[in-house]
This record gives sequence, C-alpha cells and structure tokens, in this order.
Amino acid sequence: MKRNKVIAGNWKMYKNNSEAQQLANQIKIRSTEIKKTEIILCPPFSALALVHEQVKDSSIAVGAQNLYWEKEGAFTGEISAGMIKSCGAAYVIIGHSERRQYFGETDATVNKRIKAALAEGLKAIVCVGESLDQRESGVTAKVIETQVTAGLEGLSKDDMKNLIIAYEPVWAIGTGKTATPEQAQEVHAQIRGLIDAQFGSDVAEKIKIQYGGSVKPENAETLLSQPDIDGALVGGACLKAETFLPIIQAAELL
Ligand code: 13P
Repeated sequence: MKRNKVIAGNWKMYKNNSEAQQLANQIKIRSTEIKKTEIILCPPFSALALVHEQVKDSSIAVGAQNLYWEKEGAFTGEISAGMIKSCGAAYVIIGHSERRQYFGETDATVNKRIKAALAEGLKAIVCVGESLDQRESGVTAKVIETQVTAGLEGLSKDDMKNLIIAYEPVWAIGTGKTATPEQAQEVHAQIRGLIDAQFGSDVAEKIKIQYGGSVKPENAETLLSQPDIDGALVGGACLKAETFLPIIQAAELL
C-alpha cells in the first residue's frame, strides 16, 4: 500500500520567537509546491501559537513536543493537551528519547500522555527506539516490542488513526550516525508487524512510521524509499529552511 509521506521537524529547545517566526515563514513560502507530503513543525511551547499564526493559511501543521496528561491543576511548569490545542496545534510528540533519558519518561507515562492527547483531539507522534548499548547487546527487537505494546496499551483501532509512530534509534540522534536504510527498514517492518498483531492488518497498513536520527538532505531519499518508512522526524536539519526543505522535496518526489 502506498502511503503519502509525513515530514516533521522537531525544533527541540531551539528558536526564540523572532527566529521561530522567520523559520516558519521561510518554510511556508518555499513549500507551496508540496502537495502530497504532510509537513509538521514542532517548535518549543513558547512559539506554538506564533508558528501556528504564521502557517495557518497553508497546509502546514503545527505540533508540540510534549504534554502533561492532567487537564489542569497545580502542576507547575506543565502544559495540558487542551492548552496545546488552544495554540492551534494539531499534533504532539510523545515519548521522545530525550524525554525518556533526561526527564524520566516511561512506557506507562507515554501511554497516559497518548490517551490525554487523543481525548483532546490531538494527533500523537509516538517515539520509540533503542540505545547503543541495547543495539550492541542484541536486544533491539525486544526493546521495540516492549515500547510499542506497553506504550499503545488500551488504545482502540479508531485511536490508531490519529497516531504516527517514529522510530528513532537513540544512537543516531544528533550524532551524525544514521541507521542504514536496511537497519531502519528492518525495525520499521517489525513495528508494522507489532501493530498488525495488536490492532489488525487494516490499521497496520495505514499507520505511518517515521524514521528519525540524523536525517539530512543527503540521506533522505534512500531512507524514505524503504517500503515501511513513511516519513521522517527531523532534528538538527529542520532548524534551517535550506536543510529542511530538500528533505520535504525528497519525500514529495517518491
Ligand atoms: P537529529 O535529526 O538531530 O539526529 O534528531 C532527531 C530527533 O531526535 C528528532 O526528534
């Protein structure tokens, strides 16, 4: 089954508001030819509303990078799904490896966050991926299986329509080391198989699975042409229009 690609830029903790406005505007102006490929910009919370304002007359979507699962309350420093929605965002990244590594995110909290996002009508980009140690000790498949099955526990087939999975091997994030297209394809196919087992083949065929980890203009086409790679979650290369746009264009041409 042919699935249109989805390219998301995870801006992480980069870009103040004037830089964010400028980058969003450049991407909007220079992506008017893009018709099939979905583009999602994920700026920091502080620039969400501003970036939405900048791209709202285009087909570019906006996403947050995290959320807290409670609706509201005394949770200093946290942001709810409803608050994200009110900034005009349609997506939220959940369970990024940096959240898991530095902020104690677990499969159980990933699961709560996904449910809170979906309940508010947000779509979730759910990240999974193994560390270097895990890859080298041969437990990649096991780690991915646990993250997918525990992370998505209790979701319905309908919920899955609003989910994207991002496979991001931790050792490839920000290191310049990209998984080979074959390594990435192998895990993507495994993830699709897990979704098939958990939710059925109709869901598995449709779900989009992005690859993330040092995606650049130079490697985008070979990665994106793998049968189970439906897009990219881009970090470093999404911070400049000159390096983000060629990745989107590579996706559009496939
Ligand atoms: P890099 O593209 O900088 O490796 O980051 C990938 C990533 O973590 C996207 O979420």
